[in-house]
Amino acid sequence: MMGVANENIKRAEEVVNSIGIPSQPGIVLAIHKEINDPCPDFKKITDLIGHDVAIAAKILKIANSPFFGSRQVSSLEHALSLLGIGNFNNLIITSALRDVLKGCGPSDEVFWNHSMLVARITAYIAKKTGVLPEEEAYLLGLFHDCAIPLLLKKFPDYVQVFDSAIDYRPESIYNEEKLVKTNHSIVGYIVAKSWRLPEVMCEAIQFHHADSAVRQGDPSVSKARAALLLSEYICHCYTAEISGIPENDDEWLNHYGDVICELDIDVDDIKDFKEDSIDMLSRMEYTCV
Ligand SMILES: [Fe+2]
Ligand SMILES: [Fe+2]
Repeated sequence: MMGVANENIKRAEEVVNSIGIPSQPGIVLAIHKEINDPCPDFKKITDLIGHDVAIAAKILKIANSPFFGSRQVSSLEHALSLLGIGNFNNLIITSALRDVLKGCGPSDEVFWNHSMLVARITAYIAKKTGVLPEEEAYLLGLFHDCAIPLLLKKFPDYVQVFDSAIDYRPESIYNEEKLVKTNHSIVGYIVAKSWRLPEVMCEAIQFHHADSAVRQGDPSVSKARAALLLSEYICHCYTAEISGIPENDDEWLNHYGDVICELDIDVDDIKDFKEDSIDMLSRMEYTCV
């Protein structure tokens, strides 16, 4: 089993090396370092961003978008004081990730909307269940499918499996393996590691489509994975509702037992989370930032 896992990672590394891993921009690294200082210097953080006009403009655009509450944010200092340091950092990472993953034509918007929706719902589930910090949950949702646009750029045929990979269908990993000899979960794990996301999140990404029989050693990974899986399910229901396409619960049924066990919730909680999330997303408008 371990041999197979190592083989899979080796193949994914070959693919990532041939694509060229999208590196974490220097500004993200510098801000990450400052934020993790026991006494972060907020002025230094806004000055760092202020030197990059393009990223500063994008951050203000995202801060003012429905995904962050459309709050008339006029300056970086204002964004930082309104959102708090954790959300502000997430906003910088969101902007940087979006920049490095663009270039897939019409699929860009579909991919990005999915990632932003799952990020918001995963953060909401984390808040309700307490299984991981809200800001980490947001990043987990944001990064969980980050390999999809990379595989699309590397393998033009990947467009054949794009819909099933984004739309949370059980056949997606099998079809990806058949087509390109790797899959977006494992390539995403490598990208997340290179962006220095916490190990728990990297592993949750690696196993987010894994069979329910696969149990992970670290309980934090299983809990983070469960929050992500419930978020994927709710996102699927939401997009099915607004697009008029019938829901397909096959993938959800594979994971349902694990999710209620890991999150310590019941069927009524799931119903409530689903209704609250859909209500929250409807009020935000379904739009790409
Ligand atoms: Fe996925
Ligand atoms: Fe997804």
